[in-house]
Amino acid sequence: MKFVGFKIIFIIALSLMGSVVNSEETSDFRLPTNFKPVSYELNVVTHLEDKFMFEGVVCIRMICVGATDTIVLHSTSLNIDTKSVVVANGGENVIPVSSVSFDPDKELMHVKSTVNFKPCDEYLLTIPFTGNLTDDSVGYFRRNYVDKESNQTRWLAITYFEPLGARRAFPCWDEPGYKATFKIRLSHKKGLTSISNMKFMNQINCPSNSDYVVDEFEESPPMSTYLLVYMVSDFVYTEADSENDQVKYRIICKKDLANKTEFAINLGPKALKYHEDYFDGKFPLHKQDMANIPDFPTDSMENWGLATFREGVLLIDLDVTKTVIVYDIARCITHELAHQWFGNLVTMKWWTSLWLNEGFAEYAGLRGVDFLFPESKYFQVQCVEFFLLALDFDSLQTADPLSVAIEKPDDIAPISLYPIMFTKGPILLHMMNTVLGEKTFKQGIRNYIRKYKFSNAEQDDLWSLLTEEAHRQGTLDKNLTVKQIMDTWTFQAGYPVLNVVRDYSAGTVILSQERYLSIKSNGTDNKTCWWIPINMTTSGDVNQTNATFWLNCENNNLTIPLANDNEWVIYNMQMTVLFRVFYDTRNWMGIICTLNDPTKYETIPTLNRVQLILDSLSFSQVGDMDYEITFQLLKYLKYEKDYTPWLAALTGWREIDYLLYRTPKHAVFQNNMRDMLSCMYSKFRNIDEKVNGYENINFKILVISRACEYQTKDCIQRVLDLFRKWMKSVDPDNNNIVPKDLKTIINCYAIQYGGADEWNFLWERFQRSNLTSEKNDMIYALGCSSIKALLLRYLNWSLDESIIPREYASAVLSPVMVNEAGFLVAKEFLYCKIADIYEYDQRQGNSLVEFVNNIASQMKTKEELKEFQSFIIKSSRYFKEPDLVINQITETINKNIEWTLKFYNKITNTV
Ligand SMILES: *[C@@H]1O[C@H](CO)[C@@H](O)[C@H](O)[C@H]1NC(C)=O
Ligand SMILES: *[C@@H]1O[C@H](CO)[C@@H](O)[C@H](O)[C@H]1NC(C)=O
Ligand SMILES: *[C@@H]1O[C@H](CO)[C@@H](O)[C@H](O)[C@H]1NC(C)=O
Ligand SMILES: *[C@@H]1O[C@H](CO)[C@@H](O)[C@H](O)[C@H]1NC(C)=O
Ligand SMILES: *[C@@H]1O[C@H](CO)[C@@H](O)[C@H](O)[C@H]1NC(C)=O
Ligand SMILES: *[C@@H]1O[C@H](CO)[C@@H](O)[C@H](O)[C@H]1NC(C)=O
Ligand SMILES: *[C@@H]1O[C@H](CO)[C@@H](O)[C@H](O)[C@H]1NC(C)=O
Ligand SMILES: *[C@@H]1O[C@H](CO)[C@@H](O)[C@H](O)[C@H]1NC(C)=O
Repeated sequence: MKFVGFKIIFIIALSLMGSVVNSEETSDFRLPTNFKPVSYELNVVTHLEDKFMFEGVVCIRMICVGATDTIVLHSTSLNIDTKSVVVANGGENVIPVSSVSFDPDKELMHVKSTVNFKPCDEYLLTIPFTGNLTDDSVGYFRRNYVDKESNQTRWLAITYFEPLGARRAFPCWDEPGYKATFKIRLSHKKGLTSISNMKFMNQINCPSNSDYVVDEFEESPPMSTYLLVYMVSDFVYTEADSENDQVKYRIICKKDLANKTEFAINLGPKALKYHEDYFDGKFPLHKQDMANIPDFPTDSMENWGLATFREGVLLIDLDVTKTVIVYDIARCITHELAHQWFGNLVTMKWWTSLWLNEGFAEYAGLRGVDFLFPESKYFQVQCVEFFLLALDFDSLQTADPLSVAIEKPDDIAPISLYPIMFTKGPILLHMMNTVLGEKTFKQGIRNYIRKYKFSNAEQDDLWSLLTEEAHRQGTLDKNLTVKQIMDTWTFQAGYPVLNVVRDYSAGTVILSQERYLSIKSNGTDNKTCWWIPINMTTSGDVNQTNATFWLNCENNNLTIPLANDNEWVIYNMQMTVLFRVFYDTRNWMGIICTLNDPTKYETIPTLNRVQLILDSLSFSQVGDMDYEITFQLLKYLKYEKDYTPWLAALTGWREIDYLLYRTPKHAVFQNNMRDMLSCMYSKFRNIDEKVNGYENINFKILVISRACEYQTKDCIQRVLDLFRKWMKSVDPDNNNIVPKDLKTIINCYAIQYGGADEWNFLWERFQRSNLTSEKNDMIYALGCSSIKALLLRYLNWSLDESIIPREYASAVLSPVMVNEAGFLVAKEFLYCKIADIYEYDQRQGNSLVEFVNNIASQMKTKEELKEFQSFIIKSSRYFKEPDLVINQITETINKNIEWTLKFYNKITNTV
């Protein structure tokens, strides 16, 4: 499973965090362990169009492992005629059933017999069932699309089971630990086709209905229910030229998209080969399909042998798709293919290890893309983005650990949304990869896959194999284990700050750790500690990285020698470990000296420059370090030529920027930012000039957008000129002269600095375009206007489906809110229209809370706090948990008030 849009999910996840785990609940949602399913035969008849339902029979062969008179398995939302449930023994003699009952809360079904089932005996359970194909997003459900050629609505049926959906499609032991083989037969109307995890074997006419056929698929190896998939559609198939005869590779999509498969069909087999080499194991099945599903509920899902993707996440037109998105798609494909081994061949025992499943696939995805596009520096850029996200949301008191107890079905859903899984998970695995060394880590993973294939494992199993391999290769101290280290990172929320205090007269340095918190209302947390691998370098010998040693709970306050003629020491080489580093002032000044020397700053590695920037900005923002020092450090940026340090700096500055919005001194701040950017801007200012490579394209987008944001005259002029040239072109809908990678920002700044003409022009283009990605860009840009009347009308339109279609409505708000002129408009809109917004969003639910939190994040006076609190109280009927909302906004606004009191004057005078 995978989501591309971290930032959006972040906000949702925050509002769910309070309710993630309630470990007092007992685990009676787990299945009793009396039976172990061995094989399933599943027959499903799919009726589309006429009645939208499915009829099926599942026949489960199972072994009794604990004496009982009742079989308990999962089933929900299905219609089951209790009289037709049949139990037989291994010899196929019927065993009498005394009752069949359902427990809807626990989604369980009980089949009770008059006799006792005997351990070690084999039994056969047969259950006929029916269900409806609805517009749901879980289980077996329907979707539709309009066929371009015939202009007719076409229907398809598709499954999505992770985590708890299989039980909605057929009765089963729906926990990842119950692996069994599956033999699937799918019946459907002639003219449609069906696919599933395994290779198609044959088709016969349906004996009972001459309009229908039955497709039969190979029997699967042992696998978990959440990885099953089947689909009935009129889609077409594109097959890759395979270098590998053993694995057939196909892309499946609606006919209109068949000529957009080129990128995926080329990348897929290469990514598969990359993983085969990494895992040192052949792809476990005979075929791999990837299907593109309209309105699929998540970005992508790794079902074994048939990965499914949301529209826009798999198939692209390389001429129009932005480079950044092309790489995201490559990562998504590589991620899902990594799961075919890590996750599908070897599966987690229980959802507690979900973080490892997703974290590893994400790490393998990053590494894979970096390997397949070696010139991109993809891994480095993504690492910095992951650090930016993880350092931020893991610094809150409310953060959750990666590995959380999961007891009941409700716990799993929010966890799967939890963004830290996709950022902190890969960062920790990268830490182990670096500490143990690539060779040890890879061999440990290979041993894990070999040992647990077709079976289940949990994080301790991986840790123990990594430990074994590391001890064998001598890359980990014999009296240390990977578990000892990793448990401190996975079972505890947050991350540490390493405090570095030098004693210059004694020639020593004292190292200690505590949890880093961005809001210190509760004081510090020096009880939590981590096993931190420590690496360092000094100004005296920049080419020497000292060997790694461990800082842990016992040796906190560790004193080590450090010659005092070293101007500085820097810890965490290449930022491979998730922690911040706080130095004493003299050491900071030494670092600043080197950074501000154009001949020397590069002796500090790029990723360490990134860390110095990130840390110093954060320490200043929470009041631990004088802004004066941070500003001096950031002055070195006038020499910086790499993208990632700029990304770190400009992301950090953005927070300060927001806090200065609508204050008299914002202009001073913008002035200073313009100066700082001017060098880089002159490098990228030719917006027509093409730059190549993932990193450079990102760099150009960042620099142009900030230069325009901070009102660089030349930037504004160039953007407006280009946009107006487009406005004058003969057929602007088919003749967009704006370079594809810069479209988002050029549209946005042309709207911000242009007037009603520009706005109306882009609005017309929005209405005429039929490309989702372009429409998304335009809907965003239209919210960048600085004309309040236009913005207000635009927000009102977002509640009117006849003007802005629902699927685009949610994208209207965010640009308005981050826009200086938009804040007051958005606030007015919220105050006047909350009832309508609530009404319109009933189906999604969360966006009102998100709206309110975003408004709060821009408030910074006591008056605003009071006003907003009383508004929320007055409107409490629109919130599920109004108290929680009040607490959140109060915390946010208070933090802003505090910051403003302390730093407002300082910042503007000295930047
Ligand atoms: C399917 O829909 C029909 C008609 O709306 C309804 O009577 C039936 O109960 C539904 N079946 C299930 C399993 O929900
Ligand atoms: C397609 O069908 C819809 C509704 O049936 C109709 O409104 C529309 O005009 C048709 N479009 C074309 C291009 O025929
Ligand atoms: C793809 O097919 C559509 C029609 O199905 C056609 O309009 C378009 O030009 C084709 N694109 C390419 C790149 O072949
Ligand atoms: C491992 O054990 C040896 C001998 O007891 C000890 O000298 C060494 O410091 C230990 N190493 C660690 C990392 O604990
Ligand atoms: C923070 O303070 C609150 C209220 O005093 C307390 O309930 C909470 O447990 C504290 N959290 C930590 C991590 O100390
Ligand atoms: C934690 O901090 C408190 C107050 O600064 C101090 O008294 C205590 O000894 C510290 N605990 C540890 C384990 O360092
Ligand atoms: C460090 O290594 C680089 C290249 O390997 C070399 O150019 C440089 O002189 C070295 N610096 C020092 C201080 O030894
Ligand atoms: C620390 O540096 C050593 C020597 O350069 C290197 O082998 C090791 O991988 C580094 N460890 C980390 C955690 O970066």
